[in-house]
Amino acid sequence: MTDVEIKKGLAGVTVDYTAVSKVNPETNSLLYRGYPVQELAATQPFEAVAYLLWNGELPTDEQLASLRAEERKHRALADNVKAAIDLLPLEAHPMDEVRTAVSVIGASDSSGSGSVLDAAGSPEENLARSIRLYASLPAIVAYGQRRRRGQEIVPPRDDLDYAANFLWMTFGEEAEPVVVDAFNRSMTLYAEHSFNASTFTARVITSTLSDLYSAVVGAIGALKGPLHGGANEAVLHIFNEIGSAENVVPWLDKALAEKRKIMGFGHRVYKRGDSRVPTMKTALDTLIEHYDRPDVAALYDALESEFVSRKGIYPNLDYPSGPAYNLIGFDTLTFTPLFIASRVTGWTAHIMEQTASNALIRPLSAYNGPDERHIDGYVPDAAHL
Ligand code: CMC
Repeated sequence: MTDVEIKKGLAGVTVDYTAVSKVNPETNSLLYRGYPVQELAATQPFEAVAYLLWNGELPTDEQLASLRAEERKHRALADNVKAAIDLLPLEAHPMDEVRTAVSVIGASDSSGSGSVLDAAGSPEENLARSIRLYASLPAIVAYGQRRRRGQEIVPPRDDLDYAANFLWMTFGEEAEPVVVDAFNRSMTLYAEHSFNASTFTARVITSTLSDLYSAVVGAIGALKGPLHGGANEAVLHIFNEIGSAENVVPWLDKALAEKRKIMGFGHRVYKRGDSRVPTMKTALDTLIEHYDRPDVAALYDALESEFVSRKGIYPNLDYPSGPAYNLIGFDTLTFTPLFIASRVTGWTAHIMEQTASNALIRPLSAYNGPDERHIDGYVPDAAHL
């Protein structure tokens, strides 16, 4: 054993600078490129937030129009991506489906494919790849849900902006403005969160000078886990288990006795509440009112107050977003793919930042296995002496 200090899970370790976002647990604030996320969610379309993350400034009207035009070019599900998805079993988890689709998009992009030495790509190539992925993901997520429901694909509509078109392609009908607004806010809140596990994974892959698509595929793998992005899906599973507000106390007694983690609560960085929750909770409240579902509010409030009073651990963003996506009509299994569609903007902003000031990420480990030992009868040959 060694006497070096190990920081399990890199907890509390600062590994690099970033100009993409700032998390301040003391003031409970999250800034994207300097702007509070609550202000962005209340005032900006998701397209403008994506532009901000990639370029460092909010777009002018002209820049926003240009990004929107580019996004529309890549909205339709490409034939080869659809063919690859169709090869997958219907039982495949949608996260695996989206991961596979992104891999197909990457393998179909001939820019920088001549040699591994070209993989990292130029800043212009990587921005174009980022826009293409962000524009392509809604069709992949929407088609996945429709395929599992046995429904036909719905082609995109050029007259709708990003959030409205995403809902159109998923449900085949135009969403009410209140629903589009809540969905747009959730996309903004999920877009970026400094060096979380999936973003760090993307940066590790990028640091080897691998390509942007490989980094996004790796990030999707990290996001799938229930300790990270998978928690929004897991929240709905526990809501379904509990059933109604009256059942919260006995359910929680049993869950805590079994030492279960209560999904949607707790955070590695925020210990006094997640800065994104109040904004998402307000969006959830508008949906509860719109769909007239006071039962959802009752269950939400009962579990939150009971768990917080027992453990002092507060909800994270996945707690209000899970029921919000459920009310909108998304299948539970589609929730974490929605997180991908949003977070791809933050991931790619970090990939471009990592590329611009790269150092191979290669930490050390402290060995705690057996002392050096040897195979009985082994005689080194002369060449190895
Ligand atoms: N339910 C029950 N106990 C909890 C929970 C929870 N949700 N979160 C933390 N604890 C307890 C934990 O059991 C431990 O207790 P003890 O010291 O007695 O062993 C203590 O609090 C510290 O927990 P930890 O897991 O060591 O803390 P962490 O900073 O490593 O964990 C976390 C952060 C997010 C992994 C954890 O809170 C958790 O597992 N939450 C549930 C999953 C979840 O909602 N994840 C979404 C995270 S936010 C979205 C995102 O950024 O991806």
